[in-house]
Amino acid sequence: MRRRMILAATVMMSVFILFACGSGVTEVKSYAAVDFGKLKGMPGFSDQLLEMHFALYKGYVKNTNLLAEQLAKMAAQGQSGTPAFAELKRRFGWEWNGMRLHELYFGNLGGKEPLQKESKLRQKLAENFGSYEAWAADFQATGAMRGIGWVVLYEDPKSGRLLNVWINEHDVGHLAGGNPLLVMDVFEHAYLPDYGLKRGDYIRAFMDNVDWAAVEKRLSK
Ligand SMILES: [Fe+2]
Repeated sequence: MRRRMILAATVMMSVFILFACGSGVTEVKSYAAVDFGKLKGMPGFSDQLLEMHFALYKGYVKNTNLLAEQLAKMAAQGQSGTPAFAELKRRFGWEWNGMRLHELYFGNLGGKEPLQKESKLRQKLAENFGSYEAWAADFQATGAMRGIGWVVLYEDPKSGRLLNVWINEHDVGHLAGGNPLLVMDVFEHAYLPDYGLKRGDYIRAFMDNVDWAAVEKRLSK
């Protein structure tokens, strides 16, 4: 009886060691969703819309983690050369950017003060666009373009230039090495429940709620 128990324990331990060492799957670190609940009550944005948007954002975090795990598992199982692996790999950038762009978007909302006249950012906007007003007009016109996506005010750390850029969906149009300073979501879910097709009204509400202190902190040192 005792011999049988020792044998069973040895077999179980061997299986565990084989699984732990032989699976070859490197542990994938998960991303955690950020809580942006403090934005509730923001003027021009209903709590219902914000809650729906937070839930949508959490879906991107969940799917980014899921894809990372699946890709690691497939690589460990020698499936890196398969079409399924390639499709998941392509999908990863879409989900990851969906997660990160929402964090930047919610992170640059909730402000109560306009951009200060003497601020470094305002000076840089004027240098690049002629004036703050000219920059804002271009940023808003980019947001009013037909289609779904994002508007990003990018800083090019190499040249110091600032650029307003349209991002199609979540993944097309990013500037390599660019530093996103201000991010605006213009997917329909970001405004349709509150504004219907009046995207311009949503864009104005967005501009009224920009947290300029948070945006300035993103400038490269
Ligand atoms: Fe969104």
